[in-house]
Amino acid sequence: MSSTTPASTVITGIGELTTVDPDHRVLQDAAVAIENGRIAWIGPTRQAPAADVRWDAGGRAVLPGWVDSHTHLVFAGDRGAEFEARMAGESYSAGGIGVTMAATRAAYDAELARLLAARVAEARAGGTTFLETKTGYGLSVDEEVRHARLAGEAADVVTFLGAHLVPPGAEADEYLDQVCGPMLQAVKDHVQWADVFCERGAFDEDASRRVLLACREAGLGLRVHGNQLGPGPGVRLAVELGAASVDHVNHLEDADVEALAGSSTVATCLPACDLSTRQPLAPGRRLLDAGAEIALASNCNPGTSYTTAMGFCVATAVLQMELSLHEAVRAATMGGAQALRVAEEVGSVELGKRADLQVLDAPAAIHLAYRPGMPLTHTVFKDGRPDI
Ligand code: NIG
Repeated sequence: MSSTTPASTVITGIGELTTVDPDHRVLQDAAVAIENGRIAWIGPTRQAPAADVRWDAGGRAVLPGWVDSHTHLVFAGDRGAEFEARMAGESYSAGGIGVTMAATRAAYDAELARLLAARVAEARAGGTTFLETKTGYGLSVDEEVRHARLAGEAADVVTFLGAHLVPPGAEADEYLDQVCGPMLQAVKDHVQWADVFCERGAFDEDASRRVLLACREAGLGLRVHGNQLGPGPGVRLAVELGAASVDHVNHLEDADVEALAGSSTVATCLPACDLSTRQPLAPGRRLLDAGAEIALASNCNPGTSYTTAMGFCVATAVLQMELSLHEAVRAATMGGAQALRVAEEVGSVELGKRADLQVLDAPAAIHLAYRPGMPLTHTVFKDGRPDI
């Protein structure tokens, strides 16, 4: 243990502690003790145990750090003009991915690593303590491997998204053979998950199934981009193949909602993306009422959602998706942890879990929606250490 890491810390004076535990406990005037980076005790401040370091939250609200289960942070370039045209009435199309592919291929490793580190730091400053990111702007064997390697140096978990788009100029069948063959073999040791953009203009049901089956065979867990731009087979396929999550889920038939409710596939809603593409907001209320598990994630990428602000996603879910504050916080913490199958480790304030916490500069978590857009993150604890 380094000299900067105390063996034990106790955070006292927590005005409101949102645990996101199975009992949905919200405690007033609480304290949390941390030992070796893990949560060791939770209780009233007046009973707080002794520790090497005592940190006074000063009556502020504390909740688990955000678990952002869907980002695309490995990119260079800017698509502000495309966004502006969209706000003037153009519709989103998957073709913009090729623009970012070209800019990212042209960036040196050092530049991409710098951009990635800056984006992860920005996410951390907004309360994110666990983060997934993807490849998907490389779209050749060498570039996908390079992006996966760089992503692994910055993010907690990495997803292979070679099946993001058939790159401009490539022949679809040949590209699919490459994704399911040499690209997958070259990238698989650098990633934990695989994903496919199952959508009109990207990969159809047969192609998506082929990618997912090959990736599962290679030992990767599965996720799907589905039902983003219109109704389609993404949700059905994700549930059929036991994917951990299906992300976007804007356009759902009743059968999709029922399938999700009867499965362990998490429906990941991406409200910042929905607003930036003028898609209908994902039906989080309908999914919860049906009994499905949902997550909220930022989908930070240069095309459809250029933000890592999970607090904004939570506020939008409350203000516009009819979720309660606690449902939204749960989706952005435990929901993300379940979508990444790391709920044993992160996503709630429970004994034995990593002490990944955020302290708000507010007395209660409702301020996340009550004061939308305000920079409410006061301090972030990552593995028990104050990080910002
Ligand atoms: O999740 N939907 C596919 N992929 C990204 C967008 C990528 C882009 O346009 O650059 C998304 O929205």
